[in-house]
Amino acid sequence: MNRPVDESRYFQDVEAAARLLTSQPGAPPDVAIVLGSGLGDFAGGLTDAVTTPYAEIPNWPASAVVGHAGKLVLGSLAGKRVAALAGRAHFYEGHDLRTVTFATRVLGLMGVKTLILTNAAGGINLSFKPGTLMVIDDHINLLGSNPLVGANEDRFGARFPDMTNVYAKRLRESADEAAAARGLRVAHGVYVAVHGPSYETPAEIRFLRTIGADAVGMSTVPEALVARHMGMEVLGISCITNPAAGVLPEPLHHEEVMEVARRVKGEFSSLLEGVIERL
Ligand code: HPA
Repeated sequence: MNRPVDESRYFQDVEAAARLLTSQPGAPPDVAIVLGSGLGDFAGGLTDAVTTPYAEIPNWPASAVVGHAGKLVLGSLAGKRVAALAGRAHFYEGHDLRTVTFATRVLGLMGVKTLILTNAAGGINLSFKPGTLMVIDDHINLLGSNPLVGANEDRFGARFPDMTNVYAKRLRESADEAAAARGLRVAHGVYVAVHGPSYETPAEIRFLRTIGADAVGMSTVPEALVARHMGMEVLGISCITNPAAGVLPEPLHHEEVMEVARRVKGEFSSLLEGVIERL
């Protein structure tokens, strides 16, 4: 975990991946979307799509989680050039946060200005039912680390980047407009990132509610921090797949999370399309 990182080597690795992807038809994308659990099919909705399996991109980390395909699709949607990432590396898989955010760095170097991060999350806010789509207004980082730890790479961004507006107001409003236009309901709230992979205890959920979190998950925050470090605009949307631990007497299951994510994917995709249309 605490081994020194060779910053310039990391930069070169990111550059090599960005170079390969930038040479493909459809690049550079206007917007990139990281697809959370169950949403991978969204990439299938892009036209003129060019698919690159992660294994074919130099230095790109693989994700082993069931439900994540592991491919980058460059294509078009609503007149915009879109990069859709089906599958992401997670901190709980044992990757360090540099590796977790490698893809975000590559997208930044490719010139992507807007990054949409999606995920599945547990509902801490008691008004959230499974299937609720929550626009992330802000986040709390409880990962115990930060992807910007280590020597700063000035070619990426500043040493102490501001995090006052991680999730762009303009994009959050645009999500509301897209939802209204498409007859969808969205909630808003604060996302807290925890390390995982175990789900939380009921006491932890009470703690997270007390500190102001509405939804809990194991991703998104590292990518958002790195995207802001590079000056990208970020939108985050959570699919609330389950009431968080202790809200109901039943235990949590990954299968339940996947099932709800799959059930809502049509609405989620429609919302994303509406957001992209408005960019
Ligand atoms: N906790 C953490 N991560 C999650 C959850 C949860 O309840 N549901 C989906 N991802």
